[in-house]
Amino acid sequence: MEKSMRKTVVSGIRSTGKLHLGNYFGALRNFVKMQHDQQCYFFIADYHSLTTHPDPKALHGNVRQILAEYLAAGIDPEAATIYVQSDVPQVAELSLLLSMHAYIGELERTASFKDKVRKNPENVNAGLLTYPVLMAADILLHRADFVPVGKDQEQHLELTRRFARRFNTIYGVEYFPESVPYNFGQDLVKIPGLDGSGKMGKSEGNGIYLSDPDDVIRKKVMRAVTDAGPQEPNSPISEPIANIFTIMNAVSEQSTIDFFKEKYATCEIRYGDLKKQLAEDLIKTITPIRERIEAIAADDAYLHKVTREGAERARESADKTLREVREIMGIHHF
Ligand code: TYM
Repeated sequence: MEKSMRKTVVSGIRSTGKLHLGNYFGALRNFVKMQHDQQCYFFIADYHSLTTHPDPKALHGNVRQILAEYLAAGIDPEAATIYVQSDVPQVAELSLLLSMHAYIGELERTASFKDKVRKNPENVNAGLLTYPVLMAADILLHRADFVPVGKDQEQHLELTRRFARRFNTIYGVEYFPESVPYNFGQDLVKIPGLDGSGKMGKSEGNGIYLSDPDDVIRKKVMRAVTDAGPQEPNSPISEPIANIFTIMNAVSEQSTIDFFKEKYATCEIRYGDLKKQLAEDLIKTITPIRERIEAIAADDAYLHKVTREGAERARESADKTLREVREIMGIHHF
């Protein structure tokens, strides 16, 4: 696409561990699909990971892992700007400035905050409360039009738009755009776990990882929760089985999906066959990525080069925004 027609795209993934299929189908795969057509910034959200994983020993390894996974999944650092969030500290200043117009009440009502408070009542830190402000700063730092994310980030994006609109209203400018979550016009993706209900998540312990070897993938899929099977033709599909089909939708051929749906409708389905097919189709997607992860993670010089050049480009864009925001807010004293 012609450069001047390009939209700006921003997204990031927290460095809290290896990436799973939810991260891949909700976010990473779309990063790869968009990188040649738009002006893309993809970063590793290491500041955000400190709200729940303040572990200096693990942090560097986690950042490295995600970086290798970005590259292995096909992000081309010549096409997209890849950087580590903390290499662009302008985001911290923008977050501070945006926080002056973020209300405690709306932050306390955010679902992800309430969830963290419930799960971890002994670590309700201020960073957790202002998490959506920092995330808005990530996005607005480059004045993003599109933000490719999974369904679970929808509320954070709503807050980003609200902060952007509020900023524009308070200062009487049309400065920040309305950044929208993006999935090529389709509904945002939610990849479920194979444990019966809920989403696949790093902390849910139900992940199938991009770095999982084939036999581990087979084992995880064969253990997937099922039900007693359809008792009469055209029965509604229960949640655990619907979850298997949702993952199939992401990796299998349409004819394969139709075949098993038909078998389900006529009560002839064998869940063992369904799982075997799903495992093989997952392996086809994951194996090439896993093989590249190993090679890239071992290449220190390359990882350094990618992050150094990415940070430089991201800082340039961030500097411009901060200069303009300071001007708009009246921070230009002597
Ligand atoms: P994080 O690190 O939890 O997840 C990274 C991306 O993976 C998506 N995702 C899923 N999509 C579908 N199904 C699932 N089961 C699933 N699990 C995870 C997430 O929606 C996300 O797109 N707050 C963000 C990180 C962040 C960010 C940003 C994102 C920080 N600043 C700015 C976009 C723009 C997060 O915790 O994602």
